[in-house]
Amino acid sequence: MWNERYSEAEYIFGTEPNDFLKETFSTIPAGGQVLCLAEGEGRNAVFLAEQGYQVTAMDLSDVGLNKALKLASERGVEITMQVADLADYQFGVGKWDGIVSIWAHMPETVRQYVHAQIAPALKPNGVFILEAYTEQQLTMDAVGGPPATQKERFGSLQTLQTELVELEEMIGVEKQRLVAEGKRHQGLSAVVQFVGQKR
Ligand SMILES: C[S@@+](CC[C@H](N)C(=O)[O-])C[C@H]1O[C@@H](n2cnc3c(N)ncnc32)[C@H](O)[C@@H]1O
Repeated sequence: MWNERYSEAEYIFGTEPNDFLKETFSTIPAGGQVLCLAEGEGRNAVFLAEQGYQVTAMDLSDVGLNKALKLASERGVEITMQVADLADYQFGVGKWDGIVSIWAHMPETVRQYVHAQIAPALKPNGVFILEAYTEQQLTMDAVGGPPATQKERFGSLQTLQTELVELEEMIGVEKQRLVAEGKRHQGLSAVVQFVGQKR
């Protein structure tokens, strides 16, 4: 499905980074190793590489990640790409200064597996940054987010606080904000934003 969506030349989520990542990326230790989960066409990974981080972008879609490499090349930065499935992704232990999850809406079992890996995979002072749509998005007149048939994929602050309890919460909020990130994410949207640090 995602390979098909990414097969057009246009970057369907745009080439500029996610707004929340842009606001919060500097909480990640400078120059560190950053893992971008479900990174698609690479806009966030390329932005982080431009800020001096060593970035690995993982995604199920090789078509998306090849567009990410092209974007990196056009911007004169290097990123590492990994075609992999979050359902059995090996995060490593004490490996990352930052892990970034932007619009990575997964089935509940996969999300629980991923979130259980975050604290062990971060170095001390490492930071996890996430933005996801909440179920309220189904009532909004906006483009973006899982369909009503996949409600388990929406995020919530309560779920994040439970599943990421080992992290110290720096930001945790559910809110509405205007999203303009490519043609597939547009309009006043219902989101959860989270930044947590490993102590
Ligand atoms: C809404 S897009 C977000 C892309 C990117 N994070 C961004 O903000 O531009 C969701 C991404 O999740 C990826 N994805 C879905 N299921 C996945 C899985 N099980 N493992 C890895 N990536 C997955 C898709 O290929 C797609 O690129």
